[in-house]
Amino acid sequence: MNEMYSIEGKVAVVTGAAGVLGGSIASHFASQGANVVALVHRPEQVETVLEKLKALGGDPACYACSVMDTEVLAGIAEEVVAKYGKIDTLVNVAGGNVAGANVMPDQNFWDMKLEDWDKVLDLNLNGTVYPCHVFSKIFARQGFGNILNISSMAAYDALSRVAGYGAAKTGVSNFTKWLAAEMAMKYGEKIRVNALAPGFFIGKQNRAALLNEDGSLTERSVKVINKTPMRRFGDITELNGAAQFLCSDAASFITGVILPVDGGFSSFSGI
Ligand SMILES: NC(=O)c1ccc[n+]([C@@H]2O[C@H](COP(=O)([O-])OP(=O)(O)OC[C@H]3O[C@@H](n4cnc5c(N)ncnc54)[C@H](O)[C@@H]3O)[C@@H](O)[C@H]2O)c1
Repeated sequence: MNEMYSIEGKVAVVTGAAGVLGGSIASHFASQGANVVALVHRPEQVETVLEKLKALGGDPACYACSVMDTEVLAGIAEEVVAKYGKIDTLVNVAGGNVAGANVMPDQNFWDMKLEDWDKVLDLNLNGTVYPCHVFSKIFARQGFGNILNISSMAAYDALSRVAGYGAAKTGVSNFTKWLAAEMAMKYGEKIRVNALAPGFFIGKQNRAALLNEDGSLTERSVKVINKTPMRRFGDITELNGAAQFLCSDAASFITGVILPVDGGFSSFSGI
């Protein structure tokens, strides 16, 4: 591996590390020799995730916590610094849709539950902002570090149904740009903040919307594929290269970018 793309020896905190995409990024980073600090939501997930990472490489650690709990996150951050001497990267993958914040074809906007709107904003926007709030302070103290957030295709043009999720991810994209400028101007160019915008990957949360029980495409996923020039869904491993690039020294002049990994979905009109 060309040295500038290497993440070997880097200390990478990954939230949502027991999930589909977070698990894939955490495993890939470990296999590249990064010391992965996996943050999972539930204590019962710790052992499995840790064992998996240990078999792949680096010197991993795993903690259970909510990304909403800044006090616990701050304690973990200091423990990580004490153990490894530094933190290079924060990858904020925890997030996802909340069904009650959708407006389905047979519903009206005012059928949407406002408490679920609050939940989806909390999980995706605050669940990104809060870890950034904690870890960027460490990066400012160290004088280096990079953050990688996860946005979505729902943050570009409006997607039907996902009202709350789209608003939350639009917030993530805008906040990523804001924090990138803030960090570089006040604390120096060695602190970078970027995001990935995954296209359509089959995960736990969207499987039912994209695939029928027999594995065939739903009406919605036919529309997705027709607007995707590559004519397929992403494989979960296909985020890993983009994540590694943005967290490596090869991206030293890149900050404030929202990189689509989408088979062309966001750049194509569909016509
Ligand atoms: N799968 C896709 O096609 C797709 C597309 C675009 C964006 N995304 C985004 O990628 C990210 C990961 O998606 P995924 O498909 O891997 O979903 P996933 O449900 O497999 O993973 C999300 C993880 O977040 C964790 N989590 C939820 N609430 C938490 C909290 N309060 N504190 C800590 N952890 C919490 C869950 O336990 C879960 O492990 C999400 O932000 C999602 O919005 C996914």
